[in-house]
Amino acid sequence: KQDSDQLIIDAGQKQFGATTCSSCGMIYSADNPDDHFQHTQFHQRFLDSIKYKILNHLHFGKQLPQGWKKERVVDEFWDGKILLVLPDDPKYAVRKAEDVRRVADSELGFQQVTLSRPMQAKTYMFINTQRLVVGCLVAEPIRQAYRVLEQPAPNKDMTKDDFMERHRAWCCSTVPEPAVCGISRVWVFSQSRRQSIATRMLDTARRTFIYGSYLTKEEIAFSDPTPDGKLFATKYCNT
Ligand code: ACO
Ligand code: ZN
Repeated sequence: KQDSDQLIIDAGQKQFGATTCSSCGMIYSADNPDDHFQHTQFHQRFLDSIKYKILNHLHFGKQLPQGWKKERVVDEFWDGKILLVLPDDPKYAVRKAEDVRRVADSELGFQQVTLSRPMQAKTYMFINTQRLVVGCLVAEPIRQAYRVLEQPAPNKDMTKDDFMERHRAWCCSTVPEPAVCGISRVWVFSQSRRQSIATRMLDTARRTFIYGSYLTKEEIAFSDPTPDGKLFATKYCNT
Protein backbone atom coordinates (compact mmCIF):
# COMPACT_ATOMS: atom_id res chain seq x y z
CA LYS A 1 0.00 0.00 0.00
CA GLN A 2 1.18 3.45 -0.88
CA ASP A 3 1.79 5.97 1.87
CA SER A 4 -0.44 8.53 0.18
CA ASP A 5 -3.52 6.31 0.77
CA GLN A 6 -2.89 6.26 4.48
CA LEU A 7 -2.21 9.98 4.69
CA ILE A 8 -5.47 10.68 2.97
CA ILE A 9 -7.65 8.35 5.03
CA ASP A 10 -6.39 9.72 8.36
CA ALA A 11 -7.15 13.30 7.45
CA GLY A 12 -10.87 13.30 8.36
CA GLN A 13 -12.28 15.88 10.75
CA LYS A 14 -14.54 15.00 13.67
CA GLN A 15 -17.71 17.04 14.08
CA PHE A 16 -20.72 16.24 16.28
CA GLY A 17 -20.12 12.48 16.21
CA ALA A 18 -20.13 12.53 12.42
CA THR A 19 -16.95 12.67 10.44
CA THR A 20 -16.52 14.37 7.10
CA CYS A 21 -13.77 12.71 5.14
CA SER A 22 -11.58 15.48 3.85
CA SER A 23 -10.69 13.63 0.69
CA CYS A 24 -13.76 11.73 -0.54
CA GLY A 25 -16.16 14.14 1.16
CA MET A 26 -18.40 11.44 2.64
CA ILE A 27 -20.13 12.26 5.92
CA TYR A 28 -20.31 9.21 8.16
CA SER A 29 -20.28 8.13 11.77
CA ALA A 30 -16.95 6.52 12.59
CA ASP A 31 -18.50 4.75 15.62
CA ASN A 32 -21.08 2.96 13.47
CA PRO A 33 -19.57 -0.20 11.92
CA ASP A 34 -21.94 -0.10 8.91
CA ASP A 35 -21.12 3.53 8.24
CA HIS A 36 -17.47 2.84 8.72
CA PHE A 37 -17.60 -0.02 6.22
CA GLN A 38 -19.55 2.03 3.68
CA HIS A 39 -17.06 4.82 3.96
CA THR A 40 -14.10 2.50 3.49
CA GLN A 41 -15.68 1.20 0.29
CA PHE A 42 -16.65 4.61 -1.05
CA HIS A 43 -13.24 6.01 -0.16
CA GLN A 44 -11.43 3.21 -1.96
CA ARG A 45 -13.55 3.70 -5.07
CA PHE A 46 -12.86 7.43 -4.96
CA LEU A 47 -9.11 6.84 -4.69
CA ASP A 48 -9.20 4.29 -7.52
CA SER A 49 -10.97 6.86 -9.68
CA ILE A 50 -8.35 9.54 -9.20
CA LYS A 51 -5.29 7.27 -9.32
CA TYR A 52 -3.16 7.67 -12.40
CA LYS A 53 -2.04 4.10 -12.84
CA ILE A 54 0.80 3.16 -15.11
CA LEU A 55 0.72 -0.43 -16.34
CA ASN A 56 4.08 -1.72 -15.27
CA HIS A 57 4.10 -5.46 -16.00
CA LEU A 58 6.42 -4.87 -18.95
CA HIS A 59 8.75 -2.81 -16.80
CA PHE A 60 9.04 -5.25 -13.94
CA GLY A 61 12.36 -4.80 -12.23
CA LYS A 62 13.07 -1.64 -14.14
CA GLN A 63 12.21 1.90 -13.19
CA LEU A 64 8.55 2.78 -13.67
CA PRO A 65 8.01 4.95 -16.75
CA GLN A 66 6.99 8.56 -16.18
CA GLY A 67 3.62 8.22 -17.85
CA TRP A 68 1.22 6.28 -20.01
CA LYS A 69 2.54 4.77 -23.21
CA LYS A 70 0.60 7.33 -25.20
CA GLU A 71 -0.29 10.59 -23.53
CA ARG A 72 -0.54 14.23 -24.51
CA VAL A 73 1.39 16.32 -22.00
CA VAL A 74 0.33 19.92 -22.61
CA ASP A 75 2.07 21.48 -19.62
CA GLU A 76 4.60 20.53 -16.97
CA PHE A 77 5.30 22.00 -13.56
CA TRP A 78 7.44 21.20 -10.54
CA ASP A 79 4.38 19.77 -8.78
CA GLY A 80 2.73 17.96 -11.66
CA LYS A 81 1.71 17.88 -15.29
CA ILE A 82 -1.39 18.56 -17.35
CA LEU A 83 -2.63 15.95 -19.81
CA LEU A 84 -5.15 16.56 -22.56
CA VAL A 85 -7.48 13.65 -23.33
CA LEU A 86 -9.53 13.58 -26.53
CA PRO A 87 -12.44 11.22 -27.32
CA ASP A 88 -10.38 9.14 -29.79
CA ASP A 89 -7.48 8.53 -27.41
CA PRO A 90 -6.55 5.06 -26.12
CA LYS A 91 -9.19 3.41 -23.94
CA TYR A 92 -7.19 3.71 -20.70
CA ALA A 93 -6.97 7.49 -21.14
CA VAL A 94 -10.62 7.98 -22.08
CA ARG A 95 -11.73 5.74 -19.21
CA LYS A 96 -9.62 7.63 -16.68
CA ALA A 97 -11.04 10.94 -17.90
CA GLU A 98 -14.55 9.51 -17.45
CA ASP A 99 -13.78 8.22 -13.96
CA VAL A 100 -12.48 11.59 -12.84
CA ARG A 101 -15.37 13.42 -14.49
CA ARG A 102 -17.76 11.16 -12.58
CA VAL A 103 -16.05 12.06 -9.29
CA ALA A 104 -16.30 15.74 -10.16
CA ASP A 105 -19.94 15.41 -11.22
CA SER A 106 -20.94 13.69 -8.02
CA GLU A 107 -19.32 16.50 -6.04
CA LEU A 108 -21.04 19.09 -8.20
CA GLY A 109 -24.37 17.31 -7.73
CA PHE A 110 -24.72 16.52 -11.43
CA GLN A 111 -26.82 13.43 -12.02
CA GLN A 112 -25.12 11.94 -15.06
CA VAL A 113 -21.87 12.07 -16.96
CA THR A 114 -23.27 13.02 -20.35
CA LEU A 115 -21.57 15.82 -22.25
CA SER A 116 -23.46 18.03 -24.65
CA ARG A 117 -21.02 17.30 -27.50
CA PRO A 118 -18.96 14.30 -26.37
CA MET A 119 -16.90 14.07 -29.56
CA GLN A 120 -15.76 17.67 -29.29
CA ALA A 121 -15.03 17.74 -25.58
CA LYS A 122 -11.47 18.25 -24.41
CA THR A 123 -10.64 16.94 -20.95
CA TYR A 124 -7.64 18.37 -19.13
CA MET A 125 -6.30 16.47 -16.14
CA PHE A 126 -3.72 17.69 -13.63
CA ILE A 127 -1.56 14.78 -12.39
CA ASN A 128 0.45 15.51 -9.26
CA THR A 129 3.82 14.02 -8.29
CA GLN A 130 2.06 11.36 -6.19
CA ARG A 131 0.34 10.11 -9.34
CA LEU A 132 -3.11 11.34 -8.42
CA VAL A 133 -5.44 13.12 -10.82
CA VAL A 134 -6.06 16.15 -8.60
CA GLY A 135 -7.70 18.35 -11.21
CA CYS A 136 -10.08 18.01 -14.12
CA LEU A 137 -11.40 20.57 -16.58
CA VAL A 138 -13.80 19.82 -19.42
CA ALA A 139 -13.94 22.32 -22.26
CA GLU A 140 -16.41 22.26 -25.15
CA PRO A 141 -16.90 24.48 -28.19
CA ILE A 142 -19.75 26.98 -27.87
CA ARG A 143 -21.01 29.97 -29.84
CA GLN A 144 -22.52 32.15 -27.17
CA ALA A 145 -22.90 32.45 -23.43
CA TYR A 146 -24.95 34.33 -20.88
CA ARG A 147 -23.13 36.46 -18.35
CA VAL A 148 -23.58 35.48 -14.70
CA LEU A 149 -25.26 38.25 -12.74
CA GLU A 150 -23.77 39.57 -9.52
CA GLN A 151 -25.11 37.94 -6.37
CA PRO A 152 -24.49 38.64 -2.70
CA ALA A 153 -21.54 36.68 -1.27
CA PRO A 154 -22.54 33.33 0.25
CA ASN A 155 -22.75 33.00 4.03
CA LYS A 156 -19.39 32.11 5.56
CA ASP A 157 -20.85 29.99 8.40
CA MET A 158 -21.79 27.11 6.17
CA THR A 159 -23.87 24.32 7.71
CA LYS A 160 -25.12 21.05 6.25
CA ASP A 161 -28.45 22.72 5.38
CA ASP A 162 -26.59 25.14 3.15
CA PHE A 163 -25.54 22.30 0.88
CA MET A 164 -28.33 22.89 -1.62
CA GLU A 165 -27.73 26.62 -1.56
CA ARG A 166 -24.05 26.02 -2.21
CA HIS A 167 -24.76 23.84 -5.23
CA ARG A 168 -27.42 26.07 -6.71
CA ALA A 169 -26.83 27.57 -10.13
CA TRP A 170 -26.45 31.34 -10.30
CA CYS A 171 -28.73 33.76 -12.13
CA CYS A 172 -27.77 34.57 -15.68
CA SER A 173 -28.45 37.48 -17.98
CA THR A 174 -30.87 36.92 -20.88
CA VAL A 175 -28.64 38.68 -23.40
CA PRO A 176 -26.28 36.26 -25.18
CA GLU A 177 -22.67 37.27 -25.79
CA PRO A 178 -20.27 35.62 -28.24
CA ALA A 179 -17.94 32.99 -26.77
CA VAL A 180 -15.74 30.20 -28.12
CA CYS A 181 -14.94 27.81 -25.32
CA GLY A 182 -17.37 26.61 -22.66
CA ILE A 183 -15.99 25.26 -19.40
CA SER A 184 -18.59 22.66 -18.55
CA ARG A 185 -16.77 21.37 -15.49
CA VAL A 186 -13.79 22.36 -13.42
CA TRP A 187 -12.90 20.39 -10.33
CA VAL A 188 -9.88 20.19 -8.03
CA PHE A 189 -9.33 17.52 -5.36
CA SER A 190 -10.34 19.02 -2.00
CA GLN A 191 -6.86 18.61 -0.52
CA SER A 192 -5.19 20.28 -3.49
CA ARG A 193 -7.26 23.47 -3.69
CA ARG A 194 -5.85 27.01 -3.61
CA GLN A 195 -2.62 25.90 -5.28
CA SER A 196 -3.49 27.46 -8.65
CA ILE A 197 -4.34 24.09 -10.16
CA ALA A 198 -7.64 25.31 -11.66
CA THR A 199 -5.87 28.50 -12.83
CA ARG A 200 -3.16 26.50 -14.57
CA MET A 201 -5.64 24.11 -16.20
CA LEU A 202 -7.62 27.07 -17.52
CA ASP A 203 -4.48 28.83 -18.81
CA THR A 204 -3.55 25.61 -20.58
CA ALA A 205 -7.04 25.19 -22.02
CA ARG A 206 -6.97 28.74 -23.42
CA ARG A 207 -3.61 28.02 -25.05
CA THR A 208 -4.45 24.60 -26.51
CA PHE A 209 -8.22 24.53 -27.08
CA ILE A 210 -7.87 25.89 -30.60
CA TYR A 211 -4.63 25.06 -32.34
CA GLY A 212 -2.48 28.12 -32.92
CA SER A 213 -4.56 30.62 -31.02
CA TYR A 214 -4.58 31.85 -27.44
CA LEU A 215 -8.15 32.46 -26.30
CA THR A 216 -8.88 35.65 -24.39
CA LYS A 217 -10.70 35.53 -21.06
CA GLU A 218 -13.77 36.95 -22.83
CA GLU A 219 -13.85 33.99 -25.21
CA ILE A 220 -14.28 31.46 -22.42
CA ALA A 221 -17.46 30.95 -20.41
CA PHE A 222 -18.31 28.85 -17.36
CA SER A 223 -21.52 26.86 -17.51
CA ASP A 224 -23.72 26.92 -14.38
CA PRO A 225 -20.98 27.89 -11.95
CA THR A 226 -21.28 26.83 -8.32
CA PRO A 227 -20.44 29.45 -5.65
CA ASP A 228 -16.88 28.03 -5.53
CA GLY A 229 -16.77 28.13 -9.30
CA LYS A 230 -18.01 31.69 -9.39
CA LEU A 231 -15.45 32.89 -6.83
CA PHE A 232 -12.74 31.24 -8.88
CA ALA A 233 -14.06 32.52 -12.23
CA THR A 234 -14.47 36.08 -10.95
CA LYS A 235 -10.90 36.09 -9.66
CA TYR A 236 -9.53 34.47 -12.79
CA CYS A 237 -11.28 36.81 -15.22
CA ASN A 238 -10.30 39.96 -13.35
CA THR A 239 -6.60 39.19 -13.10
N1 ACO B 1 -13.19 30.84 -2.20
C1 ACO B 1 -12.70 32.07 -2.49
N2 ACO B 1 -11.86 32.31 -3.54
C2 ACO B 1 -11.52 31.26 -4.31
C3 ACO B 1 -11.99 29.95 -4.07
C4 ACO B 1 -12.87 29.76 -2.96
N3 ACO B 1 -13.38 28.56 -2.64
N4 ACO B 1 -11.48 29.12 -4.99
C5 ACO B 1 -10.71 29.88 -5.79
N5 ACO B 1 -10.73 31.19 -5.39
C6 ACO B 1 -10.05 32.33 -6.02
C7 ACO B 1 -8.91 32.77 -5.16
O1 ACO B 1 -8.75 34.17 -5.32
C8 ACO B 1 -7.74 32.02 -5.76
O2 ACO B 1 -6.51 32.66 -5.57
P1 ACO B 1 -5.73 32.56 -4.13
O3 ACO B 1 -5.72 31.12 -3.71
O4 ACO B 1 -4.37 33.08 -4.44
O5 ACO B 1 -6.50 33.42 -3.19
C9 ACO B 1 -8.07 32.03 -7.23
O6 ACO B 1 -9.49 31.94 -7.28
C10 ACO B 1 -7.42 30.88 -7.99
O7 ACO B 1 -7.80 29.65 -7.40
P2 ACO B 1 -7.12 28.25 -7.77
O8 ACO B 1 -6.15 27.85 -6.71
O9 ACO B 1 -6.61 28.28 -9.16
O10 ACO B 1 -8.43 27.31 -7.72
P3 ACO B 1 -8.50 25.80 -7.21
O11 ACO B 1 -7.42 25.01 -7.84
O12 ACO B 1 -8.56 25.79 -5.74
O13 ACO B 1 -9.90 25.31 -7.83
C11 ACO B 1 -12.30 25.13 -7.88
C12 ACO B 1 -11.08 26.07 -7.74
C13 ACO B 1 -12.18 24.33 -9.16
C14 ACO B 1 -13.58 25.97 -7.94
C15 ACO B 1 -12.32 24.19 -6.65
O14 ACO B 1 -12.59 24.92 -5.50
C16 ACO B 1 -13.32 23.04 -6.74
O15 ACO B 1 -13.06 22.03 -7.37
N6 ACO B 1 -14.51 23.19 -6.10
C17 ACO B 1 -15.54 22.16 -6.06
C18 ACO B 1 -16.13 21.92 -7.42
C19 ACO B 1 -16.70 23.19 -8.03
O16 ACO B 1 -17.51 23.87 -7.43
N7 ACO B 1 -16.25 23.50 -9.25
C20 ACO B 1 -16.72 24.64 -10.03
C21 ACO B 1 -17.98 24.26 -10.68
S1 ACO B 1 -18.49 25.42 -11.88
C22 ACO B 1 -18.17 24.66 -13.35
O17 ACO B 1 -17.75 23.54 -13.37
C23 ACO B 1 -18.38 25.39 -14.63
ZN1 ZN C 1 -13.13 9.13 2.55
